[in-house]
Amino acid sequence: MRVGVAYYPEHWDEAYWELDAKKMQEIGVSIVRLAEFSWSRMEPEEDVFTFDWLDRAIDIMFRHGIEIVLGTPTSAPPNWFMEKYPDAYILDDRLQPRYEGIRGHRCVNSPSLAKRSVVIVEQMAQRYAVHPAIIGWQIDNEFELSLCNCPNCEREFREWAFKKFDSLEVLNNAWGTVVWSGEYSNWSQLHTPRGGKRQLNPAFQLDYHRFQNQSLAAYQQLQIEILRRHCPGKFVTHNMWEDPLAIDYYKLFEPLDFAGTDYYIASNPEQLPTSAYNGAYYLDQARGLKQQNFWIMETNSGFGNSCWGPARRTMPPGFLRAVMWQCISRGADVVMNYLWRGSMSGSEQLSSGIMGHANQPSTRRLVEYTQICGEINRLSDSLDGTTLNNDIEIFYSHEIHRALQIQPQIKDGLNYDKIQKFYHTAFNNLGVGTDVIHWNSNKLNSYKLIVAPYLFLMNHEMVYRLEGFVSAGGTLVLTNRSGIKDMNNNVSPTLAPGLLANIAGLTVEEWDAIGQDGQHQVMSRNGRIYKITDWADIIAPTSASPIAWYNNDYFAGRAAVTVNNLGKGKVYYIGANFELDYLIELFGQIVDDLKITRIPNLPNGVHASIRRKATKFYLFLINFTDERKTIVLEHACYSLFDGPIPMGPLNLPPFGVEILCEGTE
Ligand code: GAL
Repeated sequence: MRVGVAYYPEHWDEAYWELDAKKMQEIGVSIVRLAEFSWSRMEPEEDVFTFDWLDRAIDIMFRHGIEIVLGTPTSAPPNWFMEKYPDAYILDDRLQPRYEGIRGHRCVNSPSLAKRSVVIVEQMAQRYAVHPAIIGWQIDNEFELSLCNCPNCEREFREWAFKKFDSLEVLNNAWGTVVWSGEYSNWSQLHTPRGGKRQLNPAFQLDYHRFQNQSLAAYQQLQIEILRRHCPGKFVTHNMWEDPLAIDYYKLFEPLDFAGTDYYIASNPEQLPTSAYNGAYYLDQARGLKQQNFWIMETNSGFGNSCWGPARRTMPPGFLRAVMWQCISRGADVVMNYLWRGSMSGSEQLSSGIMGHANQPSTRRLVEYTQICGEINRLSDSLDGTTLNNDIEIFYSHEIHRALQIQPQIKDGLNYDKIQKFYHTAFNNLGVGTDVIHWNSNKLNSYKLIVAPYLFLMNHEMVYRLEGFVSAGGTLVLTNRSGIKDMNNNVSPTLAPGLLANIAGLTVEEWDAIGQDGQHQVMSRNGRIYKITDWADIIAPTSASPIAWYNNDYFAGRAAVTVNNLGKGKVYYIGANFELDYLIELFGQIVDDLKITRIPNLPNGVHASIRRKATKFYLFLINFTDERKTIVLEHACYSLFDGPIPMGPLNLPPFGVEILCEGTE
């Protein structure tokens, strides 16, 4: 367990470097990430390399016992490069260039970008391969899908489609191009999705998205190969930031050593505790990328203005500590803060760092941060090597995410990301841990419960796997808008839930996009009434039994939620979008039926999660509210902060954190 920071020596006079390193060492920061935006300082002109400043910065850090993650600078190609190689500009769907001046202004399909990226990464790798301070690499910064329409993308997309379909006849058939005379008779007619129209053929759009994902992975792979060749024994990772996760980060992290993510949550009272619950989902997703612990490459260090939006509230006392322990509680082994000191110039100059711009020696933030670094370093011996082990899996598919963006279903969209977070929050409230895993994961059978909202796209293989999981005793939760389409993003020819109808034991006779008027209700089997919004499937059970019924409108009395016995397991089907309390009722019953351990009676806004090592476990309790919360302990425990704690009420102050175990540390 370690703490690190992002540091930009090139933004500061060299006189600062030694003082900064000394201060970091003093407060317990033991890792810095350097150089991920400094291409122009390392290669000011083509093939002219100036690494002397970086050598000196690295040596200073090394002398102070600080280890280094080097970032490859490819998200910020310098001006000389863009001038000389304009094929690297991203062209948007109106063929307008995304000009330099910020970052991320480069098309990953540009051969010039590939060529010059190889050169700069190789130069760095060769130079620093054996430096004892360098522990690993971060490739680029926060990859995003550029959805570029430049001639290189167009050419590559045609090749990609040719490889996938082999002939235009197969492509026309798979995409259903007959509609609106969209049939291609020559490959030259195939373009990227220009014009910005959401109504473009959904099958074509989804495949273009898949192509862009593959392009990104190929660009990353270029860099991985260089780093692996020159720097054996050093880790290679990336810092993802994509919330919602539209990129196939599961694929991108496959060849990397561990997942790295950036993590920023809002502390504004009106956004809490939702932002913390959503954050918990995001952290579970980061752990799910490789199904192992991960690193936080960047997290909050304060707030302020930034070029990305208006000023947010400054973090209240305790908030930073809650955030950093939240990361660890959900599987982070290293937490790095963004950034050591806010820059004096550039777009993000008004963002705050751990150190203020004026370098004041004892701000509230620095005092708190010093305490947190001390705690994390002190508790490393206990927590190192611990992992999370959950019985519940939430399915994630970036392809479904994208398909629902292409066709949002209702006015404000059936938001895949929102429903994922909402279902996750229900489990979080119940005090039970969940993993967020790619839907193609081959580890289905290690879970007791799979929750799979909006399985909009479906194929026979997935049905077969789900059926196997349930027949062997697993429990599966499905929802409305499942089995609607095939993997080409074309509608399935059978009644919803299409290929899933058999395992769900029902068909959807009709559906109604009921909207947000708040008028619609459902009665649960406990006789309670709950509100529903957005969508209502009017279910015709075949073998399933209803467990909740619509309460009004022309479908009053019809099934809204069902359960179907299948082999040794069960399949639940949730036909409408419910308020949280219903999900808590339903999932609470399922979790208890399955005898899944949970921390009962968690107050709203308090998060629980457990890290384990052999028979030892550590229960993290984090209060993400600005009020005191009380939890009743059923046994006497040992707090890693405060020592023995008796059975009975345990008070958590605003943003308070506890880590409890049995016995002693
Ligand atoms: C991150 C990004 C950093 C910095 C930070 C500040 O998403 O990776 O470079 O921009 O946001 O908000």
